[in-house]
Amino acid sequence: MPIHHATFVVSSPDVTMCPSSPLPEYAFIGRSNVGKSSLINMLCRQPHLAKTSQKPGKTLLINHFLIDGKWHLVDLPGYGFAQTGQKQREKLRWMIERYCLARQELVSMFVLLDCRHEAQAIDLEFMEWLGENEVPFAIVFTKIDKLGKGRLQENINAYKQKLLETWEELPPIFLTSAETGEGRDELTQYIEDINATL
Ligand code: GTP
Ligand code: MG
Repeated sequence: MPIHHATFVVSSPDVTMCPSSPLPEYAFIGRSNVGKSSLINMLCRQPHLAKTSQKPGKTLLINHFLIDGKWHLVDLPGYGFAQTGQKQREKLRWMIERYCLARQELVSMFVLLDCRHEAQAIDLEFMEWLGENEVPFAIVFTKIDKLGKGRLQENINAYKQKLLETWEELPPIFLTSAETGEGRDELTQYIEDINATL
């Protein structure tokens, strides 16, 4: 079922200040500029719902969006953006880790990866950290409009091979474009299917 109604709820500087709500929650994470906020806008068909920017480091808080009154979609700050400085990077990392570990309502994380790039240590390490802490996650490749079909498939296959060096099983994987809307139905269906089991 497509998303009919999405509204911004609140921006929180810490997990303890996130909305007290029993609704299931799904969060987007990934390097700065990978397209987290754009993907939320694409899924909800609202271009200005989450703030996006060409400059990395736009999202600095935990942003909750209420979807069809039934679940929350969460836009997190990007990790590892060099120009924000060591202190700020550590603060964001701490905010993200606390959110992942302490948020009771969190059902699954979505780790966003730019389909154009080779596997990067920071993403692989973050996924390992999620695994060690038993936080469920799926992978979402972004910006697939920027590659031809052949090249895209090559990159995805290479990424899967890389993951299989450390993981026994691959997580669910989605291919998306905030430009064309590709992947919207698959991603929303995946979330709806999980919600139906809760
Ligand atoms: P931070 O909040 O800084 O962590 O970044 P973010 O991950 O939220 O990225 P954001 O959604 O702001 O997008 C970053 C840039 O990538 C913007 O210029 C977007 O227009 C562009 N972008 C995002 N998704 C896509 C996509 O699927 N295709 C194309 N062509 N551009 C995209
Ligand atoms: Mg953002």
